[in-house]
Amino acid sequence: MKLRVLCASVVIAMTASAMASEVKLPNVKIFATGGTISGGSASKTDTTKYQDGQFNVDALINALPDIKTIANVTGEQVVNVSSEDVDSPTLLKLSAAINRSLEDPNIQGAVVTHGTDTLEETAFFLDLTVNSQKPVVVTGSMRPATAISADGPMNLMEAVSLAGNKNSMNRGVLVAMNDRIGSAAFTTKTNSTTPDTFKATEQGYLGTFIGVDPKFYYPPVKPTGQPHFSIDKVTSLPRVDIIYSYQDFDDVLIKASIRNGAKGIVMDGTGNGDVPKRAMKTLEAAMKKGIPVIFASRTGSGYVTSPKSSEGIGSGYYNAQKSRILLMLSLANGDDLNKIKTYFEK
Ligand code: DGL
Repeated sequence: MKLRVLCASVVIAMTASAMASEVKLPNVKIFATGGTISGGSASKTDTTKYQDGQFNVDALINALPDIKTIANVTGEQVVNVSSEDVDSPTLLKLSAAINRSLEDPNIQGAVVTHGTDTLEETAFFLDLTVNSQKPVVVTGSMRPATAISADGPMNLMEAVSLAGNKNSMNRGVLVAMNDRIGSAAFTTKTNSTTPDTFKATEQGYLGTFIGVDPKFYYPPVKPTGQPHFSIDKVTSLPRVDIIYSYQDFDDVLIKASIRNGAKGIVMDGTGNGDVPKRAMKTLEAAMKKGIPVIFASRTGSGYVTSPKSSEGIGSGYYNAQKSRILLMLSLANGDDLNKIKTYFEK
């Protein structure tokens, strides 16, 4: 009799403690946008010719029952496309949806699943526009869900764990890929096909994962001087083109860009943002007409200074694609040239 009472109370205690630990799990919302992480192929070794966007957010979650041990997850399908097809309206929609969801005191963090090709652009856009100290983590995969050693499931587990972790707060938007944690401001895709592609050559990683547990190298910190933009009243973003420079580069593409309505230009120049003299003349004329030009570097890393002899703005630490995001947002914000300069030169 006594044993039975004891057993019953042990069962009650265990159930109560199981319930308590269930209650403690963070609530994380997953915003799915497509990409390889949702891609599939008939061949298990196909890592390049698969189809993106074959699985929706529910399929991603249901394929990972273990996710329930680290967080209570819910999903929202924002779009289901390859990331080269993610456009400005999608960025505005995604950022607004994340802002809305993080206002809910019951949500501890957000994860975005995304194609890796332009993942860094979306991550940086969110970094500049999400209005919350709660973690936002962007992840994807290099191998489709159907491949041997698909990296998507572990990347998603790690991203959810990171988004639900209090230590991830106040660090800006994070990129979780291949067991590494990177900052949205500096992390870039460096290899076209391998899983170890996301790096920040100069600034490095913020941390790593042991199992699914995030281990940060430093306390919370954000990139120096990074602005925040409210997009509450922004319904569209101005056209900003990126133009690549090379030997023999002339001004034909610059003129075409302006003719087609570019409100700003990012030159992906050589070295410290250089472009040939002829092209520079046309850019100077554009700047005089009020079209800001950001000079970035096609080298892939390093700080780009502003050209001495013009109104042009060096991209600072930002590569061309991140410079474009920042310029679009500052133009949408109505900032003048001097203000825009401060964002890049910080
Ligand atoms: N089409 C590419 C994209 O969605 C596939 C690359 C990937 O997701 O890894 O970005």
